[in-house]
Amino acid sequence: MPIPRHALTEAAARLGTPLYVYDAAELDAAAARVQAAFAGAQVFYAVKANPNLHLLRRFAAAGLGFECVSLGELARAQAAGVPVGGVILNGPAKTDAEYAAAARLGATIVVDREEEAALLPPGSRVLVRVNPGAAVSTHDHLATGAARSKFGVTPEQVLPLMERLRDEGHDVLGLHVHIGSAVEREGDFADAFARVLALRPQTGKLGVLNVGGGWLPGADLGTIAAQARQAAAAFGAELWVEPGRYLVASAGWLLTRVVGTKRTGRNFCLVDAGMTEFLRPMLYGASHPLYPLWDALASDVWDVAGPACESGDMIARGVTLPTPQRGHLLLIGEAGAYGASMSSTYLSRPRPAEALWTGSEWQPIRRRESVESLWTLEMADSESGD
Ligand code: LLP
Repeated sequence: MPIPRHALTEAAARLGTPLYVYDAAELDAAAARVQAAFAGAQVFYAVKANPNLHLLRRFAAAGLGFECVSLGELARAQAAGVPVGGVILNGPAKTDAEYAAAARLGATIVVDREEEAALLPPGSRVLVRVNPGAAVSTHDHLATGAARSKFGVTPEQVLPLMERLRDEGHDVLGLHVHIGSAVEREGDFADAFARVLALRPQTGKLGVLNVGGGWLPGADLGTIAAQARQAAAAFGAELWVEPGRYLVASAGWLLTRVVGTKRTGRNFCLVDAGMTEFLRPMLYGASHPLYPLWDALASDVWDVAGPACESGDMIARGVTLPTPQRGHLLLIGEAGAYGASMSSTYLSRPRPAEALWTGSEWQPIRRRESVESLWTLEMADSESGD
């Protein structure tokens, strides 16, 4: 943990909990690691991992482009300053408003199905997303390159789609393949790339091969980059990548406060963050490292539970912790990716604040939502009557 304990205590006192905290140096270091491993490739940050404008501006300044999947993400890209690296629009079900926003930003559009050929703005720059139909070692919800997933077209559909897109007057830059997120085996990437490479005799030389993201923070980037480079070279193509988690997961923590404990046969440590602030443990059974910011002589096995009225609202089960007490601070690690971005206001819980540690001080980068803001969009009787 690069942020000193006294700074975390101070942030909790000043900005409250639950609080997402990020380390600026680790964000920069992760971007530099990706750029070094993928030297010569264009890196697009997958905005969904963490869309805070401060992070977007930081990555844009480092030369990264953005990968977006919604009107909101495209608008954030624009608000952060369209990166020189460029913008990509992905998604299996794009709306007319999203196509139009992509066209305004000069984004490259990833075509996910045949119908899109007739829906795209005239003269779009496109990639065709191919689903390699490969086995992917990750949670079923996170596998996108398996045959039963909804993404992309089959290898057999690629060539006719490229031809149709060209006939419609679009600029077909090349192919896109993203097999999933939090992929455990690096060999899965090589398998998928091999399936895409089988298309080489039909496609001929391509301008771009975009191999997506999906790398775990601990992944061997050297191996993945070598495989990706080889595939791109075989197509005579420029390599593009779209990492999300790798760039931000390890640079973020969720700081939560112990509300209390109870022993009912199991030991429960109840904290002020749960499924509404951090959904990954509940949605994917994800386990995240926990760092208690207190000392105690005794330790025991604890279930760390959130405040929601759902039994699935657990941060962790069966973890050994020094005996917690109301008021103690607990840090949840690897929370920079898909933490804040997947938080919700379920149970009318305002979403948490976010702060960036610059190495010497805190820069608050998102205010805590106010309770009152939760119903500002709900209409008065005078407005909603017909
Ligand atoms: N490119 C495309 C087309 C994607 O769909 C994704 C992620 C990425 C890139 C970035 O993948 P990454 O490098 O972050 O693995 N909510 C889930 C993750 C869903 C990822 C969806 N697509 C989680 O909390 O694990």
